[in-house]
Amino acid sequence: MSVTDPLACQSDAFALPDDVHYLNCAYMGPLPRVAEAAGVAGLAKKRVPTGISPEDFFKEADVLRALFARLVNAPDPAAIAIGPGVSYGVATAARNLPLGAGQNVVVTHEQFPGNVHAWRRKATESGAEVRTVVPPDGEGRGAAWNERLLEAIDARTGIVAVPHVHWTDGTLFDLSAVGRRCRDVGAALIVDGTQSVGALPFDVAEVQPDALIVAAYKWLLGPYSLSLSYFSPRFDDGVPLEETWIGREASEEFQRLVQYRDGYQPGAVRFDVAERSNFALVPVALASLELLNGWRPERIQEYCRALTSELLHEAAALGFGVEAPEWRGSHLFGLRMPAGVDLDALRDALQRRNVYASLRGSALRLSPNVYNTPENVAALVEVLREAVA
Ligand SMILES: Cc1ncc(COP(=O)(O)O)c(C=O)c1O
Repeated sequence: MSVTDPLACQSDAFALPDDVHYLNCAYMGPLPRVAEAAGVAGLAKKRVPTGISPEDFFKEADVLRALFARLVNAPDPAAIAIGPGVSYGVATAARNLPLGAGQNVVVTHEQFPGNVHAWRRKATESGAEVRTVVPPDGEGRGAAWNERLLEAIDARTGIVAVPHVHWTDGTLFDLSAVGRRCRDVGAALIVDGTQSVGALPFDVAEVQPDALIVAAYKWLLGPYSLSLSYFSPRFDDGVPLEETWIGREASEEFQRLVQYRDGYQPGAVRFDVAERSNFALVPVALASLELLNGWRPERIQEYCRALTSELLHEAAALGFGVEAPEWRGSHLFGLRMPAGVDLDALRDALQRRNVYASLRGSALRLSPNVYNTPENVAALVEVLREAVA
């Protein structure tokens, strides 16, 4: 992925201290300064509620939908629902998809539970099976895992529920190919984009998922307790998890709310969580999405690639293993330990040098972003050298 207008380091847009080497966006994205200010202003609005008008229950939520639709190239802002988390969006999809006895739901090995539990329940209740696609070990793991995923989707597959990159080690799944396979066999495709959308391009028009569900607090650099989901037209007559008043037709007319309406707002708005017009959280998510649309995911991905290319050479020379670039994210990847590395000593060295990353099993998960500097990477390299010394 090459870009003609590369992005410069954006550390000034954040408030991370220089001596904190934060390579852990996959755990929690830091809030940009403008997003924090927007949140404080949003919260302060409630000091004197006279400033909150009926239109405010709709306006910013709709801008948020439009910004997310633009980020993922979704056709219509009304196709975006505002939720409280991934599990909620997945439960909405599960509630509305058919699944019969003898069918299967395809997921990947050690997938994040927020995109697993609803399918386990649905499969049990339907007499269907959850089919988990396990990767092989060793060389070519990412390519082989992708092949196995495509092979697992067959004529009995009702639903494929997968991420774009795996949360533990950044393995990249070719969702265009998965989408084609799903359409060939008539399966629904539900994507958890939490560990990718924002930092890795996602194109709804190309992948054609039935739903794409994204928590805002990682790569969308937004608040905790907010998620954004695209739902395709197949859900247009769907039943929401909650029967909110604001999701109903003509909810803008506050004087007529008790003229109860049977119809819903168009598109996916019916799937919004209750009180989705959260005056403190929505402005935060909105400010961050404005930044991301300006920076653009392909430039963020390229920034992370360029920032970490030396590091990856150095890590390989020290004996750490890493997936081939075409099968992993540049924003999220795991370093597999060489034999003999003491994990407690490594944890200790990370802490001493203020390097933040996640130990996942016997791999070190690194997840850089546009605020990271060469100094952050240099601090990590020192830790790796110490670990193998
Ligand atoms: C891939 C993935 N999906 C979802 C979540 C969060 O799920 P929820 O919003 O339901 O808490 C995480 C958190 O780590 C994640 O890594």
